[in-house]
Amino acid sequence: MSRARHKPATPEARPATPAVIPDVRPGQSIELLKELHILTRDGKLNQDSRRKLKQVYHLYNFIEPLLDEVMSARGDLTLADHGAGKSYLGFILYDLFLKALASGHIYGIETREELVAKSRELASRLGFERMSFLNLSVEDSMRSAELPERIDIVTALHACNTATDDAIRFALEKHARFIVLVPCCQAEVAATLRKHKNDSFGRTPLSELWRHPIHTREFGSQITNVLRCLLLESHGYQLTVTELVGWEHSMKNELIIARATGQRRGNARERLEQILAELNLDDLRERFVY
Ligand SMILES: C[S@@+](CC[C@H](N)C(=O)[O-])C[C@H]1O[C@@H](n2cnc3c(N)ncnc32)[C@H](O)[C@@H]1O
Repeated sequence: MSRARHKPATPEARPATPAVIPDVRPGQSIELLKELHILTRDGKLNQDSRRKLKQVYHLYNFIEPLLDEVMSARGDLTLADHGAGKSYLGFILYDLFLKALASGHIYGIETREELVAKSRELASRLGFERMSFLNLSVEDSMRSAELPERIDIVTALHACNTATDDAIRFALEKHARFIVLVPCCQAEVAATLRKHKNDSFGRTPLSELWRHPIHTREFGSQITNVLRCLLLESHGYQLTVTELVGWEHSMKNELIIARATGQRRGNARERLEQILAELNLDDLRERFVY
């Protein structure tokens, strides 16, 4: 599969017609960009929407090579996007990559019925036939017959609280080849730290990190992602953990990309267990150790 086809045209390569909007890729659906409020109603890019488009391309640039790799390997691909919301990630991936191909399917999983209905309507209007939207929780989607057995790529972009953890479990059950996560805030770990605070003060000086609520929240959020990474590594995934540049207006800009290699990191599970014990987080064993 040639990736050149998906690259944005350079300004010189674009035909100089008034219909061409700078930064919008050839063939990209203008209607979709308007629906996503990336283009204004009159089809223009303002400073704000240009920044938004840059962010979308930035994320797309991380995911495109994964789509390419799966497509090249098996001539088909399935992608499940958890906590899809308005499904803008799924729509962009479809528009920029899958639309031009004859195969490949994107599934958006979302608990809010009205968002699912809206996405269905938009996909139908745009003729994006290989997109499905399921009104399910991530947890229920694991047992849903509406999803195929094989899911190659799992994404979860700011899926609320523990929905990211459910997306990880889903991906592991489906033996996904790639997992792309931009975690949202996770309140569960911070709440557990707080619950055992008094006991922890006598056990570890690290408990100073959860003396003040703001530190507890931030530390809880960081340690959650560390535990998620160890869990993935213990299941044979190799990780890239980086910052989603362009999302600097959001505190939640950590990007975790996991690639299945089948090689489990030797001490990942042991480290996980040690961290849970050290931080008095044994209540969360089921969430992170399996
Ligand atoms: C912050 S929004 C992010 C939406 C989208 N991924 C994005 O980045 O624009 C989180 C979405 O996850 C959905 N959600 C929360 N918990 C969920 C769960 N357990 N299963 C499925 N969807 C969930 C919410 O309804 C919401 O639409």
